[in-house]
Amino acid sequence: MANAPPFPVKMPASCIQLGVRRNSSASNDRNAGRRPWPSPALALITLECHLETSYRRKTAYVAAGRRRRPMAAGPRAGPPGKENVDQASKDAYERAMERVDPAAVIVTCASGEDKAGCLVTFSAPCSLEPPRYAVWLSHRNHTYRVALGAGELIVHLLTPADLPLAELFGGVSGAREDKFARVPWSDRGGTPLLRVSGGWLAGRILSRVPGREETGGDHTCFVLEPTAAADGDASGAGSGAPLRASDVRHIQPGQPGGE
Ligand SMILES: Cc1cc2nc3c(=O)[nH]c(=O)nc-3n(C[C@H](O)[C@H](O)[C@H](O)COP(=O)(O)O)c2cc1C
Repeated sequence: MANAPPFPVKMPASCIQLGVRRNSSASNDRNAGRRPWPSPALALITLECHLETSYRRKTAYVAAGRRRRPMAAGPRAGPPGKENVDQASKDAYERAMERVDPAAVIVTCASGEDKAGCLVTFSAPCSLEPPRYAVWLSHRNHTYRVALGAGELIVHLLTPADLPLAELFGGVSGAREDKFARVPWSDRGGTPLLRVSGGWLAGRILSRVPGREETGGDHTCFVLEPTAAADGDASGAGSGAPLRASDVRHIQPGQPGGE
């Protein structure tokens, strides 16, 4: 036992694989006659080597665990590829969307010095109790970029009397022109409030569901908690006929492909 370490060391199995034997007493040394102990310095280096290897294995495991996290059912699994939808289905989908004919609204927001607003036909109530309202903004739009830094959106409900406003907010991009310089508006707690005939609702942004990551889509859903609302002046208790998508189809979007 001339080469035995001067202190008892419990050597891990990986060290044995590296050619280092466990410490043992002289009387029951089952390894007698085999390779002698290396010097204490080599034993320490080997131990460090083992610790580093097991640390790497552990971190690799954690990383692999993250990678192997099961895909959540639903949107995270990704939408079916366009190539899976035949032309007849695409056409039927288009016709169905025309029949849905949602309301056209104008959504405004502000962040820092920036204010923005655009015409939106992708919006709807999405919870009764508590009330929630969802707005989908195109990633191409100036309004989307400002809304990413905003805490609130104002959704303006429109009637046919507001068509010129819809044409401005749907047909011009705030990235190129200040739309607010051309219309009357007021500042409501930092967010621009337009003068419309259909009424409005203000909502705190509770959640942004990123289209690209969650659904492969090109719009992000902003889920709002309504914090204030008002009836439109032209519509009494808000009963005026809404301006619909079919009424604004002639407008060329200010950000092409952003409708
Ligand atoms: C009929 C119609 C519907 C539209 N719907 C939406 C919509 O739901 N969401 C959206 O982000 N943009 C929509 N747009 C596009 C924007 O209103 C338009 O590109 C606008 O000029 C963008 O302005 P911005 O760049 O200042 O945000 C629609 C446009 C039109 C003409």
